[in-house]
Amino acid sequence: MVRMLVHGRYEIDPDPDRIDVDALYAFLDAEAYWARWRTGDDVRHQVSTAWRVVGVYTERSEMVGFARAVSDGRDIAYLADVYVLSDHRGQGLGRALLQEMIENGPGATFRWMLHTRDAHDLYRRFGFAEPDERVMERPSPRPMPS
Ligand SMILES: CC(C)(COP(=O)(O)OP(=O)(O)OC[C@H]1O[C@@H](n2cnc3c(N)ncnc32)[C@H](O)[C@@H]1OP(=O)(O)O)[C@@H](O)C(=O)NCCC(=O)NCCS
Repeated sequence: MVRMLVHGRYEIDPDPDRIDVDALYAFLDAEAYWARWRTGDDVRHQVSTAWRVVGVYTERSEMVGFARAVSDGRDIAYLADVYVLSDHRGQGLGRALLQEMIENGPGATFRWMLHTRDAHDLYRRFGFAEPDERVMERPSPRPMPS
C-alpha cells in the first residue's frame, strides 16, 4: 500500500490493520459532535466493516487523524468520522486525509455523500456540493447532533 508523507513527518496510510481503534473511540466519544451514542463495540464494528479507512500517523506511529468510508466498492460511497486531533490541525492534514480517501483511492470516480455541520468549504475542495431535488434522506430516530 502507498503511504503519503506530509511535511516529511506525518504518514497518511490506508492500511486497515494499522487503525488504533482505542484512539479513534477516545476521540469520537469525547470530542466528536456527531453520533456520540456509539459504544466501543459499535466503533470497532464500523471500522472492521468499512470499505476503506485512512489514518494519519506521527513519526512515533500515533494515530492523530482518521476517515472512514462505507461503499458498494463500485459506484457509491459515504464518508464518515473525519477528524484530525486539535494539536495537529491547520497544517494540511485534513486535506491530505481527504485526498487519500477520495482522490487517490479506488473511489476516485464514485459518487460520494457525507454530512457535516460546518466543514462545507473543506469538502467543496473535493467536489462536494449541496444535493439537488433528486436526493432524499430517511433520518434516524436518534436525535440529530446539534
Ligand atoms: C475538519 C478537520 C478534519 C480539518 O483538519 P485540518 O488538519 O485542520 O485541515 P487542514 O489543515 O487540511 O485545513 C482545512 C482547510 O479547510 C478549511 N475548513 C473549512 N471548514 C472547516 C472546519 N469546520 N474545520 C476546520 N477546517 C475547516 C480550513 O479553513 C482550511 O482551509 P485553508 O486550507 O484555506 O487554511 C479538523 O478541523 C477536525 O478534526 N475538526 C473536528 C472534527 C470535525 O469537525 N470533523 C469534520 C466532520 S464533517
